[in-house]
Amino acid sequence: MIQTSPQGTVAYEIVDRVAWVKFNRPDKRNCMSPTLNREMMEVLDELEFSPDVGVLVLSGEGTAWSAGMDLKEYFRDTEALGLKGTRDAQRESYGWWRRLRWYQKPTIAMVNGWCFGGGYGPLFACDLAFAAEEAQFGLSEINWGILPGGGAAKVATELTSIRRAMYHAMMGENIDGKTAAEWGFVNEAMPLDRLKARVTEVANVLLKKNPVALKATKDSIRRVREMTYDNAEDYLIRAQEAANSYDNEGRKEGIKQFIDDKSYKPGLGAYDISKQKA
Ligand code: COA
Repeated sequence: MIQTSPQGTVAYEIVDRVAWVKFNRPDKRNCMSPTLNREMMEVLDELEFSPDVGVLVLSGEGTAWSAGMDLKEYFRDTEALGLKGTRDAQRESYGWWRRLRWYQKPTIAMVNGWCFGGGYGPLFACDLAFAAEEAQFGLSEINWGILPGGGAAKVATELTSIRRAMYHAMMGENIDGKTAAEWGFVNEAMPLDRLKARVTEVANVLLKKNPVALKATKDSIRRVREMTYDNAEDYLIRAQEAANSYDNEGRKEGIKQFIDDKSYKPGLGAYDISKQKA
């Protein structure tokens, strides 16, 4: 059953342990208003620890994934309220992107169409990203007279080369989904009519993995990027030991099913988590 947030800016549906969350302002190309940012945080809150949800997918209703920040409601209207208005709006948007970056469950951006500017925040926040070849990605800020803020400049340099990021940000030209995959903005691109099937396939693989190990893994990949080798080595020891305090049986079961039961091969797939003791 599809549910919507009180003001209708976010829609979501849980099917077979996958939460399909959508930006839901198709008439406004899913641009992010303060209302949407507030409602998205509420929806993320509701789903994060729900036992019914194992993976979260973020996509957009209609022709857009998200046309970035709402130029009227997010920029002009909040600026008219003074510095507090601007800062409040920034905190709300950056807040849910940060929540998503460190979300408890694995997250997938399913980029079905337009993805501009501020949209790069949630794009980067998702652990994995798949795009329609027809989608268009752009740092359009330069076209309307600002720099790529809200993390967008950082996202571009995190995901692609400095030359590409610079050209992308300075020229304000769009790239399609296929190029976005070549540049590293997304994992893969495929025709729009195959996008949902591919994302469902990926989500179903993730659902079969140990959830404590997945959370430790995704956090580790993000954290170690900014560490020296020695710090990363140490962090990974601590992170695994911390994970053991939530699940001390998973890895033992994983070893047992391979070495003793010979029921699977870790090089070829995941152990059967349903057989794991609580
Ligand atoms: N902020 C505010 N309103 C936006 C918007 C945004 N980022 N993106 C789209 N809209 C609104 C339009 O003003 C229009 O509103 P209206 O129906 O009340 O006139 C409606 O959404 C539909 O947009 P439209 O431009 O007619 O759709 P399109 O399919 O022809 O073009 C885009 C789609 C995404 C190319 C175009 O809307 C656009 O360039 N949007 C701005 C993208 C951008 O620069 N974002 C920057 C974020 S920092």
